[in-house]
Parts: sequence; C-alpha cells; structure tokens
Amino acid sequence: MIASLVDRVVRSQRWLDPTGAFIQRVVGAIYKPLGGPGQSLKSFLHGTWLGHALHPVLTDVPLGAWTVAIVADLVAYSGKLKPEVGDFCVLIGLVAAYGAVVTGYNDHHETIGHELRLATAHGLLMTLTTALYTASFLLRWLGGGSARDLAVVLAVVGYVLLISAAYLGGDLVFGIGLMVNRNAFIDGPEENFVRVGRPQDFAEGQMKQVDAGGMAVLVVRYGGQLHAISNTCAHAGGPLDEGELDGTRVTCPWHGSRYDVVTGHVVRGPATFSQPTLNVRENGDSVEVILSRSLHE
Ligand code: FES
Repeated sequence: MIASLVDRVVRSQRWLDPTGAFIQRVVGAIYKPLGGPGQSLKSFLHGTWLGHALHPVLTDVPLGAWTVAIVADLVAYSGKLKPEVGDFCVLIGLVAAYGAVVTGYNDHHETIGHELRLATAHGLLMTLTTALYTASFLLRWLGGGSARDLAVVLAVVGYVLLISAAYLGGDLVFGIGLMVNRNAFIDGPEENFVRVGRPQDFAEGQMKQVDAGGMAVLVVRYGGQLHAISNTCAHAGGPLDEGELDGTRVTCPWHGSRYDVVTGHVVRGPATFSQPTLNVRENGDSVEVILSRSLHE
C-alpha cells in the first residue's frame, strides 16, 4: 500500500529526471579531469576495494547516531542527561552522513530510468537532512537557550526526513535491486562439466559467450589457456562479451567495470562484487566448464 503510493508519487515527479541527469553531469565533470586517479577514487567510493557497496555501510551510522540524539535531546530537557550527549551523537552522525552523501552521489552516477528518479529523490532528501543536522550542530555549538531549542527542532524535522529518505533508499536496493550482485540469482553447472564448444571455437585473445547449462559464460583464451567467468556483469547485468578485452582484463560495455578473467576479481568499479569463475578443460574435441565453487551452497 505505502510502497505503491510512494512509487506513484516518485514516478509522477518528472522534474526528477532532468535534476538527476544534471547531478550526474556534475559528478562526471568532477572525475573527468582527474583521469586515472579519478577512476581509482570513484572505484574506492563505490566500495570496489571492500567487495561490497560502501554507501550502505556509512548510512547506518547517522541512522543510529541521530536516533540516539533525538532521545538524548528530549531526556536532556528533564535534566537527567547532559545536553552534550545529544550534541556528540549529532556530530558522529554528521561525519558519516557527509561520507554517505559523497558515496551516494557516486553510486547515483550510473543510474537510469526509474532508479535514477528514485535515487535522485533519495539523494536530495538525504542532502536536505544533512543540511538540517549541520545547522542543528552549528546552533548547538554557538550555544544559548533559544539557539538550542531551535537546534533540537531542526534535528526533529531532519529525523523525519531521514526516515523518509531511508525508506526510499531501502526501496532502491530491495525493490529494484540497485547495487545488488546480478550473479546472486543465477544457476550454473555445479555437479558435472558441461560441453560449451570445440577448442578451435576459442581463438587466442578473443572473447566468446557460451551457454553452460543455462548460465551465460564468457570464455577467453589467453596465453593458450582457457579462462571462464560469468558473462553477466555483477554491477547491473551488462553483457561482458560485448565489452573490451585487454590481456586478461575485460571492461563491461555499460558502465566500465573491469574484471580479471583469470581470477574473476573486480579491478575497477562501479561493480563491487567479483564474477563467479568456472574451471575449463579441453577434453579431446570438447571444451567443458564447471563452476569453480557453488554459487548457493
Ligand atoms: S553493468 Fe554496470 S558496469 Fe557492467
């Protein structure tokens, strides 16, 4: 009920499309002149080094800290708690919130369609929330009775926005699967080797997509050896065989994530999860593959 109402409201906000596109252009313009180091920074902020999206790790901190701050602020009015407790919690939340805003807009850069609209609404609400908490903290810092009252009011308003924005953030991940590992729900050959072609079908330095028991697999011959990984990009499902191969590194054609076809490791974001790998063997006139480890057990 709430979900469909939120969905309708967000879809009807057409202004979110140009606003989101504008934010993406600004983020792109920041990274572009930085070249390679900018790419590395962007991957870092996605969480590629962590093997997990960095943004949700940071968002948990302000949610927790600002929840405690609300309670501490209200209890402080009774005199049973020092007001500095609430101030400190607001500060802790703020430090993480700045990181969450930066990593959030970094992830937002690769969104399209409805996910762009939803991510823009989520990002703008979180930015406004962070601005309110920044003002609240400055008022606390400046001190004074009436300034503190206003600081607490701003924090309460900010908290309502925070919960609303967090709902949209949850919808982004659990509802439409943004930043979810696209290999999480696939199946592949786990029990027995599956034939995917003949040795001569796989030329040196070429990429070839094959079907391995229903799983789209990318096979690459490099240095005479065959290597295989899932052909579905972990980031958003891009077809890796349509990307570019440089040595053992394949670059996804959709948003530029890069993987090593030997290890499956992600070496450049926005992807944060590595690709499942498959063992390959040449068996007479056949090339056969099997997952190097189970995907679900
Ligand atoms: S689908 Fe986004 S980088 Fe591959």
